[in-house]
Amino acid sequence: MKHSTLNMWVNGRAVSLAVPEGEILLDTLRERLGLTSVKRGCEVGECGACTVLIDGRAVNSCLYPALTAEGKHILTVEGLQQPNGELHPIQQAFVEEAAVQCGFCTPGFILTAVEIVGTGKRYSREELRKLISGHLCRCTGYENILNAIERAMNESLEQREGEQP
Ligand code: FES
Ligand code: FES
Repeated sequence: MKHSTLNMWVNGRAVSLAVPEGEILLDTLRERLGLTSVKRGCEVGECGACTVLIDGRAVNSCLYPALTAEGKHILTVEGLQQPNGELHPIQQAFVEEAAVQCGFCTPGFILTAVEIVGTGKRYSREELRKLISGHLCRCTGYENILNAIERAMNESLEQREGEQP
């Protein structure tokens, strides 16, 4: 199978590796780079478990040809840890709101939450529900996940307001 060199940034580090043409980014991240927070669920774009951020936008890596990531910045949950080793505030919000049960869906939800919170906008509960509609969770019934995202969004907005001159 023909391979091509893929150069991208993964969790802030430059990565260069040979990948077969047609490989999906999910396989490159999980199987070649060992980033197992990226979950293999439906593989048809329905469950959101494979979500990563590409240049800040949530993308289903099961549908994303790896070679299309050339030059792009990929973020997975492994890249969220703070320099002091603490959890990212959004991870902390998931812990505090008991938004994790089996955990299979959690990395995908967290990365979508990173995108949502990063917009700096205040969304209503119903808007948040729509924004996470690309993710399936078989355990939690979604309410605690929404509580966690709402908490993280409110904390981030408060912090931004506090930083304004
Ligand atoms: S594994 Fe990609 S959306 Fe389900
Ligand atoms: S916590 Fe189990 S699928 Fe969401």
